[in-house]
Amino acid sequence: MEKLNLLYSRAAIAQRVCELGEQINSEYAGKQLVLVCVLKGAFMFFSDLAKTLTMNPEMDFVRVASYGSGTCSGGLVSFTKDIELNILGKHVILVEDIIDTGRTVEFLHSQFMARGATSLKIAAFLDKPMCRVGKVEADYTGFTIPDAFVVGYGLDYAEKYRELPEIYILEQ
Ligand code: IMP
Ligand code: MG
Repeated sequence: MEKLNLLYSRAAIAQRVCELGEQINSEYAGKQLVLVCVLKGAFMFFSDLAKTLTMNPEMDFVRVASYGSGTCSGGLVSFTKDIELNILGKHVILVEDIIDTGRTVEFLHSQFMARGATSLKIAAFLDKPMCRVGKVEADYTGFTIPDAFVVGYGLDYAEKYRELPEIYILEQ
């Protein structure tokens, strides 16, 4: 039986997303920004964050698959859906649900830098540093969490629980 334990409430999430939005607004005022959502997990964070932004960012969506096993995610990363905008000469922020091993953001970082983005930063709603193998770190982090499996607010366990508006620790 799966058991869910509340970690971050709607109010705590809303408050933190607002703070991140303010920080991004002050750093990107007057700049041409492309906000890239890493599907599927980041969809709720992306949507809430986007609503706080004041520089009229362009938006795009990417999806990657990673192959591997064990308690830590990751392995080989590849595109299953690429972005459609040209990011040459643009400022880009990649919006991720969670950084675990860091392989996903490391892959996307190297791919997008090679396309000539003027700058590339990473906004991760959650950071789980325990399983890190990649070298790329988040520039904007919602919350740093211990090594637990979390669901809700876009994050899933076998495609379940993405709809929950809060973040929960999943216990089995
Ligand atoms: P990374 O490449 O290991 O950093 O993997 C990040 C991806 O693994 C995230 O985008 C999530 O899809 C997934 N992931 C890692 N930890 C969790 C978790 O605790 N809950 C749900 N998904 C997770
Ligand atoms: Mg993901």
